[in-house]
Amino acid sequence: MKISGNTILITGGTSGIGRALAEALHGKGNRVIIAGRRQELLDEVTGRNPGMVGIAVDLSDSAAITKFAESVKSRFPQLNVLINNAGIAGHEDYTSDSTDLTRAYSTIQTNITGVVQLSTALLPTLRAQPHSTLMVTTSGLAFVPYPPGPVYSATKAFMHNWLDALRMQLRKTSVEVLELAPPYVQTELGGPQQASDPRAMPLEDFTNEVMQILESNTIDKGEILVERVRPLRTAEKDGKYQEFLDVFASMHV
Ligand SMILES: NC(=O)c1ccc[n+]([C@@H]2O[C@H](COP(=O)([O-])OP(=O)(O)OC[C@H]3O[C@@H](n4cnc5c(N)ncnc54)[C@H](OP(=O)(O)O)[C@@H]3O)[C@@H](O)[C@H]2O)c1
Repeated sequence: MKISGNTILITGGTSGIGRALAEALHGKGNRVIIAGRRQELLDEVTGRNPGMVGIAVDLSDSAAITKFAESVKSRFPQLNVLINNAGIAGHEDYTSDSTDLTRAYSTIQTNITGVVQLSTALLPTLRAQPHSTLMVTTSGLAFVPYPPGPVYSATKAFMHNWLDALRMQLRKTSVEVLELAPPYVQTELGGPQQASDPRAMPLEDFTNEVMQILESNTIDKGEILVERVRPLRTAEKDGKYQEFLDVFASMHV
């Protein structure tokens, strides 16, 4: 992916990783469109970044995605980068007799169904460009699950697997398929306390490293991996899978 001159749609651009990447890519001379549910944050981010466009959409709502994709295609026919970054996380307790799956279903809808639907709707536009990129933000938990969040972890493993297949299908087209797999990062994904959790990677450091990887154009096998996430990515190969699983399980809240 070239670093400037693109028209980029970033979902989940109202906060955390999506907002940080949107602002960094805007600063590099890209036309950036951000999407999210919170209109006040769309207004705040676009207000601080003149030229950036914000569009409100609920990516857990299939009808809303259809309408949103149509609007993006007609307003930005030159769109050549789609970054599916929006996501939610949650925990389920299967030791309980009344496991509540409400959040789990929303997580599947947002992290899987929404990504597959939006990508499918926008792929004809991406394929029509000479060079384009479809990216999804997965997680280090795609490679070793976090026991308190089985569905969340599995949505990320699903997307990793889906992206590998998609990359092969699209290899003779103009669409490059990338996976951004973050480590634990200081955002509010898991609640406000995460933004200052010293065990999490500072958002600015993460964003700077991702931008360096994008600029250096040295992405191996379509995976954007900062150094901090590499031990999870290679845990199985390194014989460390069970060790990580045990550590994660002991973090049960
Ligand atoms: N932070 C981490 O430790 C970490 C680690 C690995 C992977 N990730 C992944 O990174 C991505 C970004 O998360 P983050 O850490 O930056 O958390 P965040 O600050 O909570 O950002 C999540 C973003 O997704 C958007 N979103 C959520 N549900 C949506 C929906 N139904 N429709 C439209 N937008 C929706 C939110 O916008 P609205 O609320 O305005 O809709 C927000 O902009 C996620 O895919 C997450 O799984 C994060």
